[in-house]
Amino acid sequence: MSPLSAARAALRVYAAGAAVVLAQLLRRCLGGFAEPVFPPQPDRVAIVTGGTDGIGYATARQLARLGMHVIIAGNNDSKAQDVVRRLKEETSNDKVEFLYCDLASLTSIRQFVQKFKKKKIPLHVLVNNAAVMMVPQRKTRDGFEEHFGLNYLGHFVLTNLLLDSLKAAGRPGRTARVVTVSSATHYVGELRLRDLHGSRCYSPHGAYAQSKLALVLFTYHLQRLLAAQGSPVTANVADPGVVDTDLYRHVFWGTRLIQKMLGWWAFKKLKMLLSLEGRSRLTPWT
Ligand SMILES: NC(=O)c1ccc[n+]([C@@H]2O[C@H](COP(=O)([O-])OP(=O)(O)OC[C@H]3O[C@@H](n4cnc5c(N)ncnc54)[C@H](OP(=O)(O)O)[C@@H]3O)[C@@H](O)[C@H]2O)c1
Repeated sequence: MSPLSAARAALRVYAAGAAVVLAQLLRRCLGGFAEPVFPPQPDRVAIVTGGTDGIGYATARQLARLGMHVIIAGNNDSKAQDVVRRLKEETSNDKVEFLYCDLASLTSIRQFVQKFKKKKIPLHVLVNNAAVMMVPQRKTRDGFEEHFGLNYLGHFVLTNLLLDSLKAAGRPGRTARVVTVSSATHYVGELRLRDLHGSRCYSPHGAYAQSKLALVLFTYHLQRLLAAQGSPVTANVADPGVVDTDLYRHVFWGTRLIQKMLGWWAFKKLKMLLSLEGRSRLTPWT
């Protein structure tokens, strides 16, 4: 990617973000979003990647409130212990636990899946939520560019390794689900098949948007395969909108300033953001 196309990628990502913020404000003016009411789901098990913070935390909390057994997959042991304690207190659900999974390491993902399968419990919902955004150029343990390696490849491998558990738990009329969190930036993302890892000219904006586009394409393809097999699993992808979280810690300082000044008003606040009734399409949460 040339410096010019890197600048173009940044502009496109900010334009996509601004469009989403405007759409959110408009929707709010038109009455906002009625939170769906879900029945209790005490017999179901969910894995939430990146459930220690932000949208993943809000998702884990809501699933725990519904009575689900929630397994948080994350790479920060000490933070996670505190999060699990808080979630148990807030939801009065003791079936919340943490299993170490560093999505930037394929070995760690495999070990996580082994540990999960040793528990001999079913898996009904896999939420592929963890991500990094616009980080400086760096690599995962396996040598992949971090956005591509963690956001996309990490979840691609995790989903594939857990697909047999999901298939075993789903049944017609009550499917098991893969819910992947993407972003509106996928609309402006480009797959750079000749330089997936940005080794020629790195653009953090282009790399983030590319990883989110890859997740959308993966989900659509997976859903087509599952439907063709008549599988009791659905693959879903969702766009949470622009939400006031720590995801923005690496963005351009001007954007962080806007988040600090206007985030409370223009960005979404963390609350219940996850619809379990998803399909294989982008579902904006507003
Ligand atoms: N916020 C938005 O406006 C927005 C907009 C569109 C899409 N999204 C998408 O929403 C999802 C959640 O974002 P967020 O805003 O909630 O971000 P966040 O607050 O930064 O949370 C990200 C989560 O991912 C975890 N994580 C990071 N690296 C990891 C690794 N190597 N292995 C395992 N877990 C790792 C983090 O763990 P730690 O707790 O240890 O940091 C954290 O729990 C992401 O997929 C993001 O792309 C967000």
